[in-house]
Amino acid sequence: MSALPIAPVFDVAAIRRDFPCLDQQVHGKPLVYLDNAATLQMPSVVLDAVSHYHMRDRANIHRGVHELSQRATASYDATRAKIAAFLGAQSAEECVYTKGTTESVNLVAWSWGLANLRPGDEVVITQMEHHSNIVPWQLVCERTGAVLRYIPIDKRGALRMDVAREIIGERTKMVAAVHVSNALGTINPVRELADLAHAQGALMLVDGAQSSPHTPIDVVALDCDFFAFSGHKLGGPSGVGALWGRAHLLAAMPPWQGGGDMIAQVKLERSTYQPPPLRFEAGTPNIAGVIGLGAALDYLQSLGMDRIAAYEADLLKYATARLSVVDRVRPIGTAPLKASVYSFVVDGAHPTDVGVLLDSQGIAVRTGHHCAQPVMDFFDLSATARASFAFYNTRDEVDVLADALEKVIGWL
Ligand code: ALA
Repeated sequence: MSALPIAPVFDVAAIRRDFPCLDQQVHGKPLVYLDNAATLQMPSVVLDAVSHYHMRDRANIHRGVHELSQRATASYDATRAKIAAFLGAQSAEECVYTKGTTESVNLVAWSWGLANLRPGDEVVITQMEHHSNIVPWQLVCERTGAVLRYIPIDKRGALRMDVAREIIGERTKMVAAVHVSNALGTINPVRELADLAHAQGALMLVDGAQSSPHTPIDVVALDCDFFAFSGHKLGGPSGVGALWGRAHLLAAMPPWQGGGDMIAQVKLERSTYQPPPLRFEAGTPNIAGVIGLGAALDYLQSLGMDRIAAYEADLLKYATARLSVVDRVRPIGTAPLKASVYSFVVDGAHPTDVGVLLDSQGIAVRTGHHCAQPVMDFFDLSATARASFAFYNTRDEVDVLADALEKVIGWL
């Protein structure tokens, strides 16, 4: 699949036509899809790429001399360079295909963590992590005797960098932080965290699940050591994503799963392994998913990540102003730097009821703890409702949401 040319203008009406799923009625109303932080809709070019693989090129990769396997392998392998370009990485070999952000974090925790953490070492994460950047570290800390520490947040949902400067110290071996919070929308100063980590000889992992769809990523400028993201949040298929890591770090990391494709030679006594990235890619992978991810990255690049970021920043500003004046609506997460997310509660109503009633109006938002229970605990809530925006959403849709909220709040 060749890369798409960059579109001359950011034409949202035209962009929306690229997303077949947006064009439908739900409960007799035009769909207003505002659950983009959970999963982005898929553009037709991704559907076409996945379908082309299944209809014309379907074969296993790296295992066949026949034409179909050669074609499938070429399309599959091509995504690696697209990921590197998308992240500003120096080499495609630094990009490991995974099932998504969760598996990427687990890969680092189980491979790097088990090999490097010792009793008394410290892993520092934040209080606003998604569970996928908490639980793997809890498991590996339990196993190694390392200590897990948390950088707290303030009542706006911003990181307490004053505390981060105290916590990140000589015992710290890894700082792992979310770039953009899925529950609050806060954009974290991950470059500053990386500087603090490196000053102590520690490594920095960035969970980019929610930043990669909304802002240009440059792992060199972020100066992180690992960056994790998911394909489905970028308009690609689910069950696929990537881990970027510095070449020398990946080269020193042991395998964490064994099987086909990751080996150099297998003897009954012992086996030897491929260099990265294949060392971390055991078994037949999600071939169609990786090919679809490549098409999704081409699509986003054709829109321009800087233009996406500017458009969404304007939309979030509009939504924040428009929704904050709706009676009984209270925003959760008011940090000065935010991307794409408006989390809220309606005083006197449960978020689930708000979500169900909004759905009856054709509006899709997420309700719940957003797989970030420590954030809910901090705000003393069990759940919020969350509208999360993408580049294909419009101010008109924000108005529909605000009007519907006024209506459903009247019913509650
Ligand atoms: N992490 C995804 C979300 O925020 C699933 O909805």
